[in-house]
Amino acid sequence: MMEKKTLLITGGAGFIGSHVIRLFVNKYPGYKIINLDKLTYAGNLENVKDIQDAPNYEFVKGDIVDDIFVLELFNKYKFDGVIHLAAESHVDRSISNPTEFIKTNIVGTVNLLNAARDIWKGNIEGKMFYHISTDEVYGSLAEEGLFVEETSYDPRSPYSASKASSDHLVRAYFHTFKLPVVITNCSNNYGPNQFPEKLIPLAINNIKEKKPIPIYGKGENIRDWLFVEDHANAIDLVFHKGTVGETYNIGGNNEWTNIDLIHSLCKIMDKKLEREEGESAKLITFVKDRAGHDLRYAIDSSKIQKDLGWEPSLQFEEGMDKTVDWYLANSEWMNHILSGDYEKYYTEQYQKR
Ligand code: NAD
Ligand code: TYD
Repeated sequence: MMEKKTLLITGGAGFIGSHVIRLFVNKYPGYKIINLDKLTYAGNLENVKDIQDAPNYEFVKGDIVDDIFVLELFNKYKFDGVIHLAAESHVDRSISNPTEFIKTNIVGTVNLLNAARDIWKGNIEGKMFYHISTDEVYGSLAEEGLFVEETSYDPRSPYSASKASSDHLVRAYFHTFKLPVVITNCSNNYGPNQFPEKLIPLAINNIKEKKPIPIYGKGENIRDWLFVEDHANAIDLVFHKGTVGETYNIGGNNEWTNIDLIHSLCKIMDKKLEREEGESAKLITFVKDRAGHDLRYAIDSSKIQKDLGWEPSLQFEEGMDKTVDWYLANSEWMNHILSGDYEKYYTEQYQKR
């Protein structure tokens, strides 16, 4: 029998959220899925236009920072589960304007926790509040070692500090109020529909346009990259099979220095754009480093592999190939973004470097 549930997914018009929405809408026709999104600069309904008319999907525009609105929404829909992805997500923006991050990532999360607590009081059977977080809460690694679930929190940017704070609050609601929660901390995602303020889509766009590719510092910082659909599959698994109160780390087991990553992207783009080998790499430009730039993130995802049987399905080469193909085939998506406030953001961020 098809299981019936009403789910709230926040931030479903953003990058990762849109992939999660698509997966759930297609895979669970018996669920009613509400996508709550404020449609900030990063929210884009084009990301979910393929499923917008599905009978089990509804979009609600709203701000999680508005506590009264959030409570009314929970009272109206009586959600059985929440998958919370809405956030301010870009480190550089958190350096320019930390306050927005405190509001959305901390206050917004508390508003959702309070509303869930309110409607689930005395009846937590089958309920789940799933908070999506980042590996950046653990701080910065030296050359050796991996983040495990027990690694002490040591956030170092306003973004990671706000996410760490929200993680602590989610756990506090579990311990204090017995709210059924689960948290995952994931490494850097890449793939279709990522806003071109993040390294990979920004570089793809600049290579295409023959603009300089800005590399912070010496490009020696290391990130562990995971294809976004693999993250969405992990979220599906944790939501349905994860143990209440637990934390799971999710990673790609795929570490790259920024400079090596960009060189490899340049090679792929040279081929796809039929340019001479080495042409795109000439665009690489070293610029002023990010303030407090974390050196290395790397995840040990053995717990989710062992307990829930999850592992990344795509090799990085395959994931990058799909990603580049998507951006090249969807220039209209990129043009809509570029014609908005992006130009202003880009000039402000990069003219000072
Ligand atoms: P994103 O910036 O692409 O999307 C965020 C979405 O949240 C947007 O649609 C935006 O409109 C919405 N939003 C922002 N403020 C809101 C508010 N006040 N009320 C309602 N909606 C609001 O982000 P993303 O990269 O898709 O990240 C999603 C989540 O995953 C975030 O919680 C982020 O911390 C986490 N995460 C991201 C990565 C990554 O590599 N991108 C890695 C690990 C964890
Ligand atoms: P980003 O995609 O912003 O993700 P995060 O900071 O959350 O890891 O950046 C990935 C890495 O790329 C990070 O080390 C910063 C670096 N970077 C650049 O070198 N140039 C850029 O223009 C951007 C946006 C990032």
